[in-house]
Amino acid sequence: MLKGKRFILGITGSIAAYKAASLVRLLVKEGAEVQVLMTGLAKQFITPLTMATLSKRPILVEFFNPENGDWNSHVDMGLWADAMIVAPATANTMGKMANGIADNLLITTYLSARCPVFVAPAMDLDMYNHPSTIRNMQVLKSYGNHFIEPASGELASGLIGKGRMEEPEVIVEQLKTFFEDKRSSGTLAGKKVMVTAGPTYEKLDPVRFIGNYSSGKMGYAIAEKLADKGAEVLLVSGPTVLNVDHPGITRINVESASEMYDTCKERFEEMDIAIMAAAVADYTPASRSAEKMKRTEDDLKLELIPTRDIAASLGKMKKTNQVLVGFALESENERTNAEKKLKKKNLDFIVLNSLKDEGAGFLTDTNKVTIVSKDNKVNEYSLKSKTEVAEDIVGYLAEYMK
Ligand code: CTP
Repeated sequence: MLKGKRFILGITGSIAAYKAASLVRLLVKEGAEVQVLMTGLAKQFITPLTMATLSKRPILVEFFNPENGDWNSHVDMGLWADAMIVAPATANTMGKMANGIADNLLITTYLSARCPVFVAPAMDLDMYNHPSTIRNMQVLKSYGNHFIEPASGELASGLIGKGRMEEPEVIVEQLKTFFEDKRSSGTLAGKKVMVTAGPTYEKLDPVRFIGNYSSGKMGYAIAEKLADKGAEVLLVSGPTVLNVDHPGITRINVESASEMYDTCKERFEEMDIAIMAAAVADYTPASRSAEKMKRTEDDLKLELIPTRDIAASLGKMKKTNQVLVGFALESENERTNAEKKLKKKNLDFIVLNSLKDEGAGFLTDTNKVTIVSKDNKVNEYSLKSKTEVAEDIVGYLAEYMK
């Protein structure tokens, strides 16, 4: 359940910081990625070297690297993560979190994070029971933060009571349960969704092809968001360097438009939804050379023939209970062209991105989209990261399915 999930682990200055080492080890063993943030004081309790070695990433403490001025973007980190865990969380850090006192990287990241946040307090008995700690915890709970309640037992001071940070194994179990519950109660639980992603390669000979600049990031981000909301996703992917590791996603790799067509056509019937995010080649070489083509002094003319339109074919097969979503990447007359595609391919809605918008399209991590539905409703979104755009598209889809 935690495979492929991205966590920010914020470690603060408590004797329980040593348990953060086991927590990282367990998360990494589950296949999760962990970015460790430490407060200045946390470094006194456990070394950055230990945490960097276990998490396989440099740990972050300062707002920027004093040696080269490299900015540690708390905003990017907050967007990157699937969840943030503050463990151990001291009374001091919880007080800052509750009151927005942004004097270290951990707190600024917390304030920027859009993901769920888990807090595992660790402190002495009387500190834990102090009215100010209790009030701060209530405030943090009212903000929607999840608490991993401390266990009772002997504390570092020798006192006996509540305040001991929960064991890493228990924290990992609670995280698993959280993500499992989120999937099984998700708005798309049980829905079968096919997503196409990436480019297609049309072979000319054994070593050359006609392709395009699609990275696949948009389609993969959509697949992940769908799966997070409980969908069972079949990701039909053209060649990309991206990896996917999610219990809700099955990937089928294809290379050419024709292979993508065959897979989609075969599998569409069993789907509730299909989202066509791939940049499919419109033309393919009329013939392919079995041997590597040799250079000559003559001009080389390629004969290309049209590929089949996958979205349009599925549009023809579509039953009333199935939803078909397309993309349109346009450089001019964007809305008119997108609306034409919507009708021609019998789509339920189309996600339009314009090449005129800076930060939108193939070679970026961001996108700016407009969704046009078959009943002519138009929703415009601002420039966002592809993960956030995926969230918008999947959110729109979930509403559309109601
Ligand atoms: N599409 C498809 N099969 C194709 C071409 C496109 O399924 N052979 C899908 C894309 O995945 C996208 C939508 O159709 O969801 C629109 O793709 P786009 O390339 O913008 O449109 P085309 O129909 O190819 O038109 P043009 O390239 O002329 O703009």
